[in-house]
Amino acid sequence: MRLNDKVALITGGGSGIGRAMAHTFADEGAKVVIAELDEASGQKVADEIGDNAAYVHCDTSSEEDVQASLAMAEKRFGGLNVVVNNAGVSQKDWDTTIAVNLSGVYYGCKYGAEKLAASGGGSVINLSSILGLVGIGAEDAYVAAKHGVVGLTKNFAIAFGQRGVRINCINPGWIETPMTATIREMEVMNTQVMTQTPMGRYGKPEEIAKAALFLASDDSSYMTGASLVVDGGWTAR
Ligand SMILES: NC(=O)c1ccc[n+]([C@@H]2O[C@H](COP(=O)([O-])OP(=O)(O)OC[C@H]3O[C@@H](n4cnc5c(N)ncnc54)[C@H](O)[C@@H]3O)[C@@H](O)[C@H]2O)c1
Repeated sequence: MRLNDKVALITGGGSGIGRAMAHTFADEGAKVVIAELDEASGQKVADEIGDNAAYVHCDTSSEEDVQASLAMAEKRFGGLNVVVNNAGVSQKDWDTTIAVNLSGVYYGCKYGAEKLAASGGGSVINLSSILGLVGIGAEDAYVAAKHGVVGLTKNFAIAFGQRGVRINCINPGWIETPMTATIREMEVMNTQVMTQTPMGRYGKPEEIAKAALFLASDDSSYMTGASLVVDGGWTAR
């Protein structure tokens, strides 16, 4: 059990990658708090896991919601060791995308890292994207926000380097979740993704969850400020 006695808060844990991380962390001994906008899916994932999970309503674009969720997680399970800033949206307008995908991660880093430092240290994991490393000539807000997440990760890693908190990000490629459902349904787009990915397939949410498990655990004890690319080789081209 790699996360025994650890408490993890996962934003957007009601679906896709967040849901897979909640299950993977719980399977490894963690207690998980699912901080999710959609109450039905967030509560459902907490119910699937059972006593070692709890749901808290959270809109990560709200500074107050993020602070309240972190406080709730700490209170509910008597501590906090891991914060995963995973909630994200795609194909939305500029303001919404920046509010959730960039400001939300900023609040999670700012208040999450501070809380972890105050209680002896921990790990913050931010969900960026391969679109945080390269552009695609579309989805301006998404690409800008995900590049911003890489920058925030580096900045917070430097600021908290000597306070026991490691801050890293994951840059997933194309993953089979509700977020990519429309792309997978459009033949031209789907073929493009498959042919541009050297491994010739989408990733599974569990394959990102395993990378998050590594960053959450002591196995990554000398890593901070890093971008961990998990993309089937997409950015190798
Ligand atoms: N799926 C991919 O191919 C892919 C690739 C790269 C990066 N990512 C990133 O990984 C993360 C998870 O994506 P996913 O594919 O699991 O998406 P998803 O749509 O399956 O899940 C996202 C979850 O976030 C929640 N959410 C949305 N806005 C929220 C808010 N304001 N506050 C709290 N929760 C909110 C949603 O309700 C949903 O449960 C996102 O940050 C996404 O940008 C996904």
